[in-house]
Amino acid sequence: MIVNRPAKVRATIQVPPDKSVSHRSLLFNAIADGRATIERLLDAEDVRSTAACLAALGVEIEWPEGSSVAHVNGRGLHGLFESEDVLDCANSGTTMRLLAGLLSGHPILSVLTGDHMLRKRPMARIIGPLRRMGAHIHARTGDTLAPLVIKGGGLAALDFASPVASAQVKSAVLLAGLYADGETSVTEPALSRDHTERMLTAMGAPLVADGSRVRVSPPQRLEPLSLRVPGDISSAAPWLVLGACHPDAEILLQGVNTNPTRTGVLDIMRAMGADLEILEERTSGGEPLADILVRSSKLRGTTVGGGLVPRAIDELPLVALLACFADGETVVKDASELRVKESDRVEMVVQALGRLGAKVTAREDGFVVHGPIPLHGGKVDAAGDHRIGMLAAIAGMLADGQTRVENDAVGVSYPSFWDDLAAAAHGGTARL
Ligand code: S3P
Repeated sequence: MIVNRPAKVRATIQVPPDKSVSHRSLLFNAIADGRATIERLLDAEDVRSTAACLAALGVEIEWPEGSSVAHVNGRGLHGLFESEDVLDCANSGTTMRLLAGLLSGHPILSVLTGDHMLRKRPMARIIGPLRRMGAHIHARTGDTLAPLVIKGGGLAALDFASPVASAQVKSAVLLAGLYADGETSVTEPALSRDHTERMLTAMGAPLVADGSRVRVSPPQRLEPLSLRVPGDISSAAPWLVLGACHPDAEILLQGVNTNPTRTGVLDIMRAMGADLEILEERTSGGEPLADILVRSSKLRGTTVGGGLVPRAIDELPLVALLACFADGETVVKDASELRVKESDRVEMVVQALGRLGAKVTAREDGFVVHGPIPLHGGKVDAAGDHRIGMLAAIAGMLADGQTRVENDAVGVSYPSFWDDLAAAAHGGTARL
């Protein structure tokens, strides 16, 4: 894709449905007793991967191609069938890690694989606790990398202190906890997104969340949960950054999930001086929701670390771009998790923004940027990481000259990204 800087940005964007909530709505309803209807389900590659894996496990999901409404006929807690073939999670870490937890509760054999990026991501973090609960799991390279082979059943409860603040790890253990012989708990070093806790509670699971500790006991059954999925703040974030950094911009983002475990990007932008207004606060699908108005802003550098990191983990690459338009130093620390996302996002941010003239200094646990730095058009290869693809596109809308973005992979989480970009730029973009 080719991107140019528009003179002016005026846009109203209905943010696509939340990816984390979309995955969970399929996975959890698959083991409920009855039928659920999910409206505004994210029709993107990652969520389709979850649906395909569940279908292979015998779950009937009616979700026509191109539709945002799905019906899931839950099979009950113990109703999954052994799949005839391997389960392909493609690019989706959430699919693989949450399914691993769920399958640990089932006395069936499952093999989970993924694309070349997912097969490089750390799996010991879920294999460890799930094995301690009694699941039989084997994996490549010393039980650390996918493909994973799982034979579940007969689980014992576990008190697990996770070394990482990760909602995927937490959710995998809680899902296995639904099948254990007593109360299972997960304690995290900092609170990660809590969609699993909210949704399982709404489905009747005996779950208690207390700060960064969650406890769950095995339920008799789960009630189906019909819901309308709120907009994804991670998909709103590129536009928030464009609006704040562009000199003549005003963007209204509609229906954004403002769950406090996800709003770190808003806190970071406010600390940098961004002009944000939160409007029309409401709730949908058990999550808070709002419209967000962002305008051109005068930004200053900031430091991001500690408990803010898991609340903004997928948005941290965009913070490097904000920092290019801010006065002074911006430091992102305590974020070594960035290195084990779809790609090593510290290195990818250094490379991608570096191609446009920015100097981002990598650190083991994050990066440093001294702003302001003018950006110039160039060629960026996002190497199949959707968040880097969107970062490069927004950087291109803020750089002088023309930017070419390759291997953007936006279909993983935001299939209409380029259409929304073209609308925001009033035709400043053309398909290659
Ligand atoms: C997710 C949790 C986060 C996030 C990912 C989605 C989830 O990963 O980066 O995009 O839906 O649970 P970790 O749990 O690995 O931090």
